[in-house]
Amino acid sequence: MTSTRLISGHVLSFKHSPFDQHPETSADIHECVAVKDGYIVKLGSKKKLHSLFPDAQVSHYSNHLILAGFVDPHVHYPQTAIIASWGKRLIDWLTTYTFPEEIKFQDYEYASLIAKRYLNLSLTVGTTTVCTYCTSHTESVDAFFFEAQKRNQRVVAGKTCMDRNAPEQLCDTAVAAYDDSKRLLDQWHGIGRLSYAITPRFAPTSTPEQLDALGSLWREYPHCLMQTHLCEQLDEIAWVQELFPNSRDYVDVYEHFGLLGKNGVYGHAIHLEERERVRLRDTNAAVIHCPTSNTFIGSGLFDLSTMIHEGQCVGLASDIGGGSSFSQLRTMASAYEIAQLQGHPLHPAQLLWLATIGSATTLRMDDKIGNILPHYEADMIALNLASTPVIAQRSRHANSIWEALFPTIMLGDDRAITQVWIAGKPCL
Ligand code: GUN
Ligand code: ZN
Repeated sequence: MTSTRLISGHVLSFKHSPFDQHPETSADIHECVAVKDGYIVKLGSKKKLHSLFPDAQVSHYSNHLILAGFVDPHVHYPQTAIIASWGKRLIDWLTTYTFPEEIKFQDYEYASLIAKRYLNLSLTVGTTTVCTYCTSHTESVDAFFFEAQKRNQRVVAGKTCMDRNAPEQLCDTAVAAYDDSKRLLDQWHGIGRLSYAITPRFAPTSTPEQLDALGSLWREYPHCLMQTHLCEQLDEIAWVQELFPNSRDYVDVYEHFGLLGKNGVYGHAIHLEERERVRLRDTNAAVIHCPTSNTFIGSGLFDLSTMIHEGQCVGLASDIGGGSSFSQLRTMASAYEIAQLQGHPLHPAQLLWLATIGSATTLRMDDKIGNILPHYEADMIALNLASTPVIAQRSRHANSIWEALFPTIMLGDDRAITQVWIAGKPCL
């Protein structure tokens, strides 16, 4: 048992999705939140919580929003060291930068070094939960889970399975992918705050036999997430059509092998046919918008407005290291800019929702994380609304909390993250 901690500031708690009802009224702002034994216990006025918990430790953050920690539902922690690699599009970027780096993760010590670096960097930008691809080496999965476990972070990770169109040092086989994934899943899934995701990289790097084997594994463990990439670049889609000539489209490839459904998390999903969107929605799959990556690698503009309008489950992710920032603030800004190009300005509440509870929903964790509500796990951040002179002079003239937040979304970085709590424990 730990003692109760009271944290005061502008504590933001979503009441409903700002995409379903008016964004301005989608959240309540409370003065104070009480946290005990890793969980949020109560929200309310300072006076009320002080009287309920007279012995509590108190921390006050003036001019800060207290929010749920950011959730980043599509990242590649092994690509930390190759972020901001110049001048390539997807397939060339993979072969030139990504695969040579991923080969290094056969060494547990290297994997552990980068896992620590990745988790440190993501924490300083206020990201408390991630769903990551590892490499094809089981060492890379063990190293990541071990580090996350030490920090008591709620994370999802999986061994990336590939048995063709990749360097030999990164290729497994259909049988090894099934066996290794199953062993890792049995070892790590549900241990503390850790979850396993079955992870075929994408259709071009798996044989039909491997996709089939991983589809069988998912049927055995349907409660597990399954993550992969989908319809990111036009060349990639044409390649998938060549490799799987009997499939109607990219989504059909996954569906054929039992790799489409609820608990499926599909990164990018930019260039979709209408039939594919219907199948994604009707099977309750989740799609992940990766705006900094989609612009950086030149993939295209994700049609968020249509996807939300159709009722798709959408999250927002950095896609490190294809993405160009660890920060979900920068990722929100990029999503805003892309939506502006498409004639749909996103409200700050919608951006924040996508980076917290929306992304938690894609990982099927929205009953545990992504919001500040009683019984939720106390993964939270204190976000300074005046972290730099330019942000401070803009937010000072704001007429609402959303207007005060927006300059931090557009201009903020790690300097805006004053504190991060993992399961109620301060970490910065
Ligand atoms: N498609 C297959 N692998 C990858 C990857 O590592 N990053 C991105 N952005 N797309 C991919
Ligand atoms: Zn990715």
